[in-house]
Amino acid sequence: MFSRRRLSAAVALAVAVAGLVTAPGTAAEASAATRYEAESAPATCDGLIESNHAGFSGSGFCNATNAAGAAAQFTVTAPAAGTATIGVRYANGGTTNRPADVLVNGTVAHANSAFDPTGAWTTWVTRTLTVTLNAGDNVIRLTPTTAGGLPNIDHLEAGAPASGRTTVWLAGDSTVAANSGGNIVGWGRELGGYLTADAGVVNSAIGGRSVQTWLYESAVTATKNSAGECVLGSTAYAARWQAMLNASTGMKAGDHLFIQFGINDGSSTCPRHVGSARYRELLTAMVRAAQQRGAHPTLVTPVSALRCSGGTATATRGFLTETFDVGRATGAPVIDLHALSIALYNGLRFCPFNGDYSSGPVGAFFADDHTHFEAAGARQIAGLVTKAVRDQRLPLSTYLR
Ligand code: GCU
Ligand code: CA
Repeated sequence: MFSRRRLSAAVALAVAVAGLVTAPGTAAEASAATRYEAESAPATCDGLIESNHAGFSGSGFCNATNAAGAAAQFTVTAPAAGTATIGVRYANGGTTNRPADVLVNGTVAHANSAFDPTGAWTTWVTRTLTVTLNAGDNVIRLTPTTAGGLPNIDHLEAGAPASGRTTVWLAGDSTVAANSGGNIVGWGRELGGYLTADAGVVNSAIGGRSVQTWLYESAVTATKNSAGECVLGSTAYAARWQAMLNASTGMKAGDHLFIQFGINDGSSTCPRHVGSARYRELLTAMVRAAQQRGAHPTLVTPVSALRCSGGTATATRGFLTETFDVGRATGAPVIDLHALSIALYNGLRFCPFNGDYSSGPVGAFFADDHTHFEAAGARQIAGLVTKAVRDQRLPLSTYLR
């Protein structure tokens, strides 16, 4: 993240170099858009800068070569990471759509985005798209996908990433839950300490739950079906998931959902047991529900228990592959807390360990067993999660202290 001073210096520099101006009519708005002209560096144009069709802003427009791949590219500076609206002003005096992939930092954000005819080369319109930007510079590239090439491109405007209040919803087990009896504290309770006042945490993690018992609670029976999965007596969701799904009071656009299961799911018996396929199915449903509401789901692999092999902390949990599979299939980012927590235990030299959870650094970190944390340990695990949010440039990074 930029410091305030470095950021304003960066913006000032960008303004000086690129000749940026604030879009007319929006200057007074808090989230005023910044305009980046196609004819001014650092923008690039695989073709000619021309000015023979009136109505453009600045001193001209990009008339890219009529060929697939002949691109117009912009470099956009965002004050913070997050979702931003961009407007691409173009004219297409031809008679057919000139579709283009919109790439953000090398990744296709919108494939084959339509740039339909505008009726005349002097009729300029703005096409609006939503993209996720990193804090700092972002390269936005319009790459035409057909031989017709791009329409003429006048400029690109980028709004400031959305800000304001957000809610971080947590679904998980005792390692996330606020309290699970005694001195047991989950990392979800400590998360708020790393976030700005604009982010509220709703910690609905609860001890002893698999993804299935978290979603369905007592509807999950003690009986296994022929596929080896625990039979559901009803498909009514538990109140905590219903609350997140509630259209008016649940997850809303711009909110965040962190999902960490896989510890209790490893049980061989019902109701906790969950098989691989079922685990993927239920995790996918949760991710999709968040995405449908415009919220940002993040999958978290299960935090590791402390297990020492001599002087080295080793892996303890399953469902890692399944969690990554769901991330890949849904596009949801994955924080590998399992690996990060093992690395932390090794960094803190918790191994070799004599099994005494009442004293020493391990005793201060863990409650009374190798799985559960005291507040101090939970705080450090929450620190791993938020460091990953920052390192992976997840949407929540805008709300980190
Ligand atoms: C015309 C027009 C150009 C445009 C080109 C095109 O030549 O004058 O501005 O770029 O058509 O079809 O791409
Ligand atoms: Ca052209």
